[in-house]
Amino acid sequence: MKTQKKAPPTIIVIFGGTGDLAKRKLIPAFYNLFKDGWMSDQFAIVGLGRTQLNDDDFRQRLYDGLVSFSRSGKPADDKWAVFKENISYFVSNADDGNSYKELAQKLDAIDQKWGARANRLFYMSVAPQLIGPVTIHLNESGLAANCDTDRIVVEKPFGHDTDSAIELNKLLTSKFSEKQIYRIDHYLGKETVQNILAFRFANALFEPIWNRNFIDYVQITVAEQVGVEERGGYYEGAGALKDMIQNHLLQLLCMIAMEPPVSFEAEEIRNRKIDVLRAVHRIKPEDVHNCAVRGQYGGGWMQGEKVPGYREEEGVNPRSNTETFAAVKFSIENWRWQGVPFYVRTGKRMQEKTSSITIQFRPVPHLTFEPSQADSVTPNRLTINIQPQMDIRLRFMAKKPGLEMDLKPAEMVFDYASGKDSPEAYETLLLDAMVGDATLFMRSDQVEEAWKVITPIQEAWASRESLDFPNYSAGTWGPESAEALIARQGHTWSSALHKS
Ligand code: BG6
Repeated sequence: MKTQKKAPPTIIVIFGGTGDLAKRKLIPAFYNLFKDGWMSDQFAIVGLGRTQLNDDDFRQRLYDGLVSFSRSGKPADDKWAVFKENISYFVSNADDGNSYKELAQKLDAIDQKWGARANRLFYMSVAPQLIGPVTIHLNESGLAANCDTDRIVVEKPFGHDTDSAIELNKLLTSKFSEKQIYRIDHYLGKETVQNILAFRFANALFEPIWNRNFIDYVQITVAEQVGVEERGGYYEGAGALKDMIQNHLLQLLCMIAMEPPVSFEAEEIRNRKIDVLRAVHRIKPEDVHNCAVRGQYGGGWMQGEKVPGYREEEGVNPRSNTETFAAVKFSIENWRWQGVPFYVRTGKRMQEKTSSITIQFRPVPHLTFEPSQADSVTPNRLTINIQPQMDIRLRFMAKKPGLEMDLKPAEMVFDYASGKDSPEAYETLLLDAMVGDATLFMRSDQVEEAWKVITPIQEAWASRESLDFPNYSAGTWGPESAEALIARQGHTWSSALHKS
């Protein structure tokens, strides 16, 4: 992981320049990096798309996006005036070789103006079926031929199962070197997620107890209040397991469960993470129902408003079998974690928006206190709140002030919100990609291994229709079966994990 991060001169080419991701995430991230002085003075953003637009139309769209989605709000006039001069639009067909020839001329002209060949960052924000053709054309056109300075960022979904992910990796690595390929998982760029590394490996206090001897179980929750919004078409073929658990939640699990790395080199950290994925127990087909539950939201009320069920959403089959909620009990088979359940759950249209990780410690081995006090002794708990609340809380027992020995839980809290304005995940990741730091990006083997972890669940669910869908109402914490999943071990999901 590099600490010196100012970007070198870079040409950024966005395939899918007129898409939602560019407007909502990529351009606001580049703008904030520019505003905060992280971009080189020499940078160019070239948006690619089939829509006929001129540079000014394109800039105006991006400006509107900034006003609505940038964390810093409406750009200052003087900053925008400089930033926009570095943006251009190029009408192109991602599937047509001639477009790449013309693009090459455009990029060469920029290099000539700057007097040197700049780094190139190709961002594939395109439909999955276009990743193949873009990869092949990029390779044939020689546009990304310098394997030290030219990089390709690939957005998810990265395949739709193990075989398609292997296939895609084969194609990408046959055309480019692995060190040029940046598979993005935006969760890894979140401030609070990166802080897990600092918390675990810059403190001596927790590592000795970070294991099966002291930890009872781990919970990872990523709950959203939104439904599928206008993405019904995409979501029908994905579902919560593929959309969230295969990538974001398994990455969080890796950060909690990984062994201490020897160094902060990208390969070292990625090696430690893949060790975890390899150690995750492969659930047997006949055990899937004991380890995983799925749900689909029906209509309900969210913050006083009536919202439709999943099957009523646009682009969704009225008899859809796609899950909008998934909860899985994973086991990690190694010395550190044997016997410690890792419960993960994610869902749309849940009661609260919250992403958090709970490390539940074991109870004290012997209760020294009077039986009347004993009941109030709750085991220690560490809660890492990722969003929207951003903090780390350690719950411990303390004596209530007074003459009697009355006990109560107390908390130590580190609050990120009281720190300075944090960068968005895409800012961190795009800057890393520009400086060539792949630590927070996924290597091919990580992606494939993560697919292998969920394959048994994927296959079991695909082979059996869920007869009880919809099985939770919008605005709740998911189906009752999710409670039952962990109640068997005497555990409960906390409906408000962030309040430890
Ligand atoms: C995306 C999923 O990867 O992550 C979406 O495709 C989901 O379905 C989103 O809404 C959640 O990201 P965040 O950063 O809002 O938690």
